[in-house]
This record gives sequence, structure tokens and C-alpha cells, in this order.
Amino acid sequence: VPTVAGAVVLPRVVPSPPGKPTRAGAAETQRLALRVARDASCWGDELAGATAAHFDALSSVWDAERTGYRPAPLADALARGGPWPEGRCVEIGSGTGALTPLLLERWPATVCVDMSAGMLSRARSGARVRADAARLPVAAGSVSVVVVGDAPLFAREVVRALERPGVVVWLNALGSGAPYFVPTDDIRAALAAASARAWRSVESEALWGRWVVLRPREQPAET
Ligand SMILES: C[S@@+](CC[C@H](N)C(=O)[O-])C[C@H]1O[C@@H](n2cnc3c(N)ncnc32)[C@H](O)[C@@H]1O
Repeated sequence: VPTVAGAVVLPRVVPSPPGKPTRAGAAETQRLALRVARDASCWGDELAGATAAHFDALSSVWDAERTGYRPAPLADALARGGPWPEGRCVEIGSGTGALTPLLLERWPATVCVDMSAGMLSRARSGARVRADAARLPVAAGSVSVVVVGDAPLFAREVVRALERPGVVVWLNALGSGAPYFVPTDDIRAALAAASARAWRSVESEALWGRWVVLRPREQPAET
């Protein structure tokens, strides 16, 4: 198991069969996702509105075209990325709920947050809240797990929502080809900047996707 300064990469156990979809425009969204992770002040009403409209338009075909392969990385993360705390989970970018049943099995108190009314209206499980993850509708320190399933990282909000120590689960259903892919080092750096703590990670690939589980270290980050 390779370990580089608190970053563990587990070998893949779920194979990647041929037929992985490619997403036109993924590179552009990845650039935006990285910008948001590094400095969320670039996110405003215009980007929020365009994002909601984009997913509203996709929502009618999302389940038929895109959900079959999505739970595999989460299932693998839940199986190998623990230990897990009890408590409340917030799922960011919950969409039509492709990941929610797996989360509810582990955390019955899961709150699903998404800004697209079209996507949310097709979801059938979990407590659903229409909101921008740039301003999470939860009290400070009130959740033990934040799951980001192919959605942007608002690191300050994630850190604010988490009780100590807290766990973040990051998922990209199409791995480095996913529009919301962000390299692990950048996720760790964003969480460290938001929390003044270093974060360790464990990650792997499963089916066509990847997962990263991040936990804060005890000691403050070096400045
Ligand atoms: C790629 S989809 C993933 C949906 C779901 N997690 C899945 O795997 O099927 C991204 C979702 O994140 C939502 N989203 C994007 N930016 C968001 C934000 N700032 N706040 C809340 N939801 C957001 C979109 O509306 C969309 O439903």
C-alpha cells in the first residue's frame, strides 16, 4: 500500500470494464471545480444559476443515462475507507439520489443538498433540501460526515458543518474523466486551508470512478 505523507492509495478491487463514457466539456468544468476548491469567492449567483439550469435540463435523462455506474465507487469507499463515525451525514450534489440509498443504510440521518429543482424532484429518499452548497443549510459542527458526489468543493462550508474530527468522502463516478474531478492533493490543500489542520487521505478506484476519504490530523497544519 503506497503512502506519501498521509496519502494512502489502496489497490483497486472492482475492475474497470471497457465502455467507460467520456464527457465533452469535462476539462472546462474541471478547471472551474479546481478554482472553486482553491478559492470559493469565484462562485456567485451567475455560476450558481447556470449550474442549476444545466442540471435542470439534464434531469429528465439523468437516471436512464447516467446512474447505473455511479454507486460503485461509494460502495467500495464504504467497504474499505472506514472506520466511520455515527451521526448525521450531508450529501452534497445529491441529484436524483443515485447514491442516497447507500448512504441511508450507513447513516439513517442523511440530509441531501442540491441546487437543481429538476434533479431533486426525481429523488425518492433522504431528507432533501434545495440549497447552494456554498452556504450549507446546516448548523456549525452538526454533522459527522460530508459526502461530495461529483459536485464542487466548498471547503470552508464543509469544515464549518463538520463536528471534530469529521470525515469527508469525495467521489468521482468517472474518475479523472469526471467533470468534477479534483486531484487529491488539491482537495487536501483546500481542506487544510479552511481548517488550519493537515488532512490525511485514503483513496482507490472502483469500476469507472474513484473515491477519496479524508480525515483531519490531530495537529495543526504547519504554517
Ligand atoms: C454530476 S451531478 C451528480 C449527482 C449525483 N451525486 C449522482 O451521482 O448522480 C452534480 C449535482 O451537483 C449539483 N450541484 C452542483 N453545484 C452545486 C452547488 N453549488 N450546490 C448544490 N448542488 C450543486 C447539481 O445540481 C447536480 O445535481
